[in-house]
Amino acid sequence: MAIDQQDRMQMLRAEPELPELDLSWMEPGTEWGVRAQPGRRGLTIDEINIGSYGEAPDESEGWTMRPRGAASREAVPRVAHYLRDKADTWSKNASLLYEEAVQRQWSSATDIPWETLRPLPDRVERAMCQFCTFLTEVEFIAGDVPGSWLPKISNEHYEVKLFLASQVMDEARHLDVFRKRALANGGGLLLSSGNAGLRFVMDAQDFTEMSAILHVQGEGLIQSIFRMGEYIATCDAEKRMFRLAAQDESRHVAFGVMHLKYILETQPWRREEIHAYLDYSEPAIQGGSAGGLMVFGVLAHHPQVCAAVLAHVGISDALRTELSPNGEFNITEFGTVRDETQFHGMLGYSPYHAVKQGTTYPAVMATTGMNDPRVEPWQSFKMVAALQASGTPNPVLLRVSHNTGHGGGTRLSERDQQLADSYTFLFAALDLPYRPVGDR
Ligand SMILES: [Fe+2]
Ligand SMILES: [Fe+2]
Repeated sequence: MAIDQQDRMQMLRAEPELPELDLSWMEPGTEWGVRAQPGRRGLTIDEINIGSYGEAPDESEGWTMRPRGAASREAVPRVAHYLRDKADTWSKNASLLYEEAVQRQWSSATDIPWETLRPLPDRVERAMCQFCTFLTEVEFIAGDVPGSWLPKISNEHYEVKLFLASQVMDEARHLDVFRKRALANGGGLLLSSGNAGLRFVMDAQDFTEMSAILHVQGEGLIQSIFRMGEYIATCDAEKRMFRLAAQDESRHVAFGVMHLKYILETQPWRREEIHAYLDYSEPAIQGGSAGGLMVFGVLAHHPQVCAAVLAHVGISDALRTELSPNGEFNITEFGTVRDETQFHGMLGYSPYHAVKQGTTYPAVMATTGMNDPRVEPWQSFKMVAALQASGTPNPVLLRVSHNTGHGGGTRLSERDQQLADSYTFLFAALDLPYRPVGDR
């Protein structure tokens, strides 16, 4: 049917005749009228976590894609969000860490001063390229693993998902930057690690198990390795690459630590389960200074939990530490023998006082510097003497350096020797075969 021009204009001018629309589905009873206000750091997740939207449920319905605070629908197919208890994955700092990750993105293309790379002796370039080959491989796993847990977590606990997504991006940058370093200075990728230790992270059956292994232990180790990388860097490009990557890793470690803390606070009965996860990678422990107090403490109070202990400039006698010139400063942290209650507490944890005759202790090496004013060498001497006198069948070694103190300002050559002795001790104590790369 032909419509003439006049009819057409008439139709356009007239109000359309629409059927009555039912928009009541847009009023499903969710909280309305919310007006989140930007805070000091902008409109962060903390600012929008208000009213009913801020309540991450202890137990989520969680079988659908429903965002927290939205109304649910009927007849919706389930998705595999089987991690629905808050404690399954929660970490109180997840949103803060996500916001920081977004703020501190960097580019391996433009934020690394690649122009500072200089030709290196062949063996140094090979060492750095092998290191970067290993790190590239590690970073694949560090991204793949959190990524694989994302679809299992309830959308109601979205802060955790955001954090994990930011971690995947961080790890992408890391593998990218280490690969670039291997290819940027006349070398290339060298030998793959063979995956043996890395499969372990992928095989974790539980999120907390994964987090304890990956975030706390694995990335704690990687962060130390990056700090060391910054220390041995041959130019500003390498320094910056390791520094930026270490900065990212500190977020990943912080997430894991706070996840374990959340479980200990809300599900204390899982304590020994967490302990078991952490035991996986503790055949040996090491610590320095106050960390030395910790590893001496583990050695003395729980001699069965590991096979080797390496204590650098460690405190062993908690009762007499405050009598040394630097000891007074530790009173607020460790307590004082002048208070009876604190005295009994200190006696309870003091490693030296817990050493018992006839106990089988792990292999031990204590290292100390004769010029250490902060933790005096007698702390290591006493502990080693007590352990040797205990009759333990395992080696108890003392390494004394007459050129060093607490650690700061130690010459690189001295550090290298100490590191070589430490690894020699660990390889021997754990019965690990040492194979130089060229001998494979
Ligand atoms: Fe990483
Ligand atoms: Fe990481």
